[in-house]
Amino acid sequence: MEVIIHRDYQSMSKAAALLVAEVLNTKPNAVLGMATGSTPLGLYQELVRLHKEQQLDFSRVTTFNLDEYVGLPARHPQSYHYFMHEHFFQHVNIPPQNINIPSGTTSNYPAFCQWYENRIAEFGGIDLQILGIGSDGHIAFNEPTSSLSSRTRLKTLSKQTIDDNARFFDRREDVPVYAITMGVGTILDAKKLVLVASGKGKARAIAQTIEGPVTSMVTASALQLHRDATIITDEEAATGLKMRDYYEFIYAAKPAAPKS
Ligand code: GLP
Repeated sequence: MEVIIHRDYQSMSKAAALLVAEVLNTKPNAVLGMATGSTPLGLYQELVRLHKEQQLDFSRVTTFNLDEYVGLPARHPQSYHYFMHEHFFQHVNIPPQNINIPSGTTSNYPAFCQWYENRIAEFGGIDLQILGIGSDGHIAFNEPTSSLSSRTRLKTLSKQTIDDNARFFDRREDVPVYAITMGVGTILDAKKLVLVASGKGKARAIAQTIEGPVTSMVTASALQLHRDATIITDEEAATGLKMRDYYEFIYAAKPAAPKS
């Protein structure tokens, strides 16, 4: 696992966007896993800027989103469909038929989840999965005690997540109780993982993810099992890290490291 600490949200977002751009430059038809939440907004803005100013091309890209609230139609302003269209898809040239987001309004959730898993496999798997992290250490909507082998499925949100996400809704009662989410196992199958975390509200979860035991109580800790996971934080999200000096030493020494 690589840990990179940036001074602020903006440079964290730019660094994450560069990793995405590198993948697209080597594989123009890459499959990208997309995340929602306020944290990846800066990363999406930077990708849009690279598209508009440096012709970063998404015309052959396919995307799979991590999750969606159950019960919210795609046009609902708090749905992840709406979020992605608003903040990213409408600003770049990904063909609409290449965009995949779990449905929050399907009539048969188990069948839909299996279809979503099969579709990811049909496209050869996810090349790069973008991730945020919940304050309880979840990735996507894999709440504490989610199996680290879990696949796409319906999940009941934790009270903590409902509280955290209530800020986006008029009333706490409006926050959906269920979500459809890629599983931890689905996420670990991606070839590369990039997790972004910002702000002191994430410091504890980030410390547990990087330096704690691998545990289903902090599903992001499963990234320790992945062979190509990068965690990019800002200063505040890094404040709980005990080995911070070492991560900075590794990063500084990286350019001079033997390549072969
Ligand atoms: C939701 C999403 C996660 C996201 C988390 C944190 O729970 N399902 O994918 O990482 O929110 O969101 P934020 O970045 O707004 O703190």
